[in-house]
Amino acid sequence: MDQNAKKQAVGRAAIKYVEPDTIIGVGTGSTVNYFIDALADIKHQIAGAVSSSVASTERLKALGIDVFELNEVDSLSIYVDGADEVTEHKHMIKGGGAALTQEKIVSAVAKTFVCIVDNSKEVGVLGKFPLPVEVIPMARSYVARELVKLGGDPVYRDGVVTDNGNVILDVHNLEILNPVELEKAINNIPGVVTNGIFALRGADIVLVATDDGVATR
Ligand code: A5P
Repeated sequence: MDQNAKKQAVGRAAIKYVEPDTIIGVGTGSTVNYFIDALADIKHQIAGAVSSSVASTERLKALGIDVFELNEVDSLSIYVDGADEVTEHKHMIKGGGAALTQEKIVSAVAKTFVCIVDNSKEVGVLGKFPLPVEVIPMARSYVARELVKLGGDPVYRDGVVTDNGNVILDVHNLEILNPVELEKAINNIPGVVTNGIFALRGADIVLVATDDGVATR
């Protein structure tokens, strides 16, 4: 099975976690796009969605799914999103698509985080995928120097402006042995909006597409 077929299979598999008449938290990326497509097939059974990016909002609306502002909603039953890396502890690196901040906010509101990946994303230790950090533009150089002190090699993602008007530093060469502590340490650098470690609030369920079908971790 090629990677796109796996993404489609796992996107569809997440539909079974959708509770009728609830508002669904929706992530961002090529895997979630398949989930959104599958969600459109059952759109009359749900109350709508809260989205984590402009791109997902546009896709949801184009398929006729109502999109609510997060501030209009008290709770979300589930949040479904992809990841760039995920461990057996259900810790993740996210933000390859630069949507990490809104993804972290929307996922924080959800009761259950369902992570959907193909098996290329499963890792023993996080960090081979460069860690995205969203930064207030004026703090870029300062934050980069602080990230070097933490052992990484930050690279400015040239030309990318996030949905929040900020910039992204991708931190290379990290071996993230303690994701919870590193997530907190990076968040404490003035000028950092969010970093792409999702460990303080990891996933609750990880669905992994393999050649043999979709496994639940
Ligand atoms: C978006 O910013 C990311 O967090 C995505 O969830 C992540 O990069 C996975 O994307 P794909 O499903 O496209 O691999």
